[in-house]
Amino acid sequence: MSIHISAEVGEVADKILLPGDPVRAKIIAENFLTDVHQYTAVRNIFGFTGKYKGERVSVQATGMGIPSISIYLHELIEVYGAKKLIRVGTCGGMNEDIHLRDVLIAQGSSTDSSIVNQVFGGGVNFSLLADFDLLRTAVNVAESLKLPVKVGNVICTDLFYNDYDDPNGTFGDGKRTFNDKLRKHGILAVEMESAALYLHAAAAHVQALAIFTVSDDLWRNEHCTAEERQSSFNDMIKIALETIIR
Ligand code: HPA
Repeated sequence: MSIHISAEVGEVADKILLPGDPVRAKIIAENFLTDVHQYTAVRNIFGFTGKYKGERVSVQATGMGIPSISIYLHELIEVYGAKKLIRVGTCGGMNEDIHLRDVLIAQGSSTDSSIVNQVFGGGVNFSLLADFDLLRTAVNVAESLKLPVKVGNVICTDLFYNDYDDPNGTFGDGKRTFNDKLRKHGILAVEMESAALYLHAAAAHVQALAIFTVSDDLWRNEHCTAEERQSSFNDMIKIALETIIR
């Protein structure tokens, strides 16, 4: 039994989907899984175990941001024996080629968080990467379902609201804003949890992947309505579930 999940060992499957939002966790469990059992509601951060096509799968909400997801990752891996973890979240599209409702897969996660530094002491800029087999499977699954996905590098930030992209361009060389530099280097989107997922998975030798739907377009300054989010959200969940059971 762990502090924040507080389920019995064995109640949580070793394959787990990780939405940030507890209500999303409930919606996934109710709409995609059978034989569903809720194993936690501590702090209203819900966790469920059920079956997808006969395979045991859990859905555990993580809250928002690196500190919150790190608590759940630690307990899921160290206490409950998680082996395959797929984050299913939302992100903000950062460049012209990314549109609202696109489904993105984070091949790599760059970050402005200090978590890498905390582990490596500043000596190494450790690359935070998706598990290759999960990534390859997810791309194949998406192709077979005829669901387009884009794969690449994302930026995992500590701040949702920030003033990095200031119009005066005072960041760094004084010419480019922070977001301009990220775009120039091919960053697809911004979100707030994948770096922790990939770091914990690397340390524990477990498999991890982060998939997102684009809920905010920071290039065109557009945002999805709640209904618009739902359909692309369902595509992402199908890809994640078909990937995690293979
Ligand atoms: N920024 C950070 N995280 C996000 C965003 C965003 O604009 N949209 C969804 N998750």
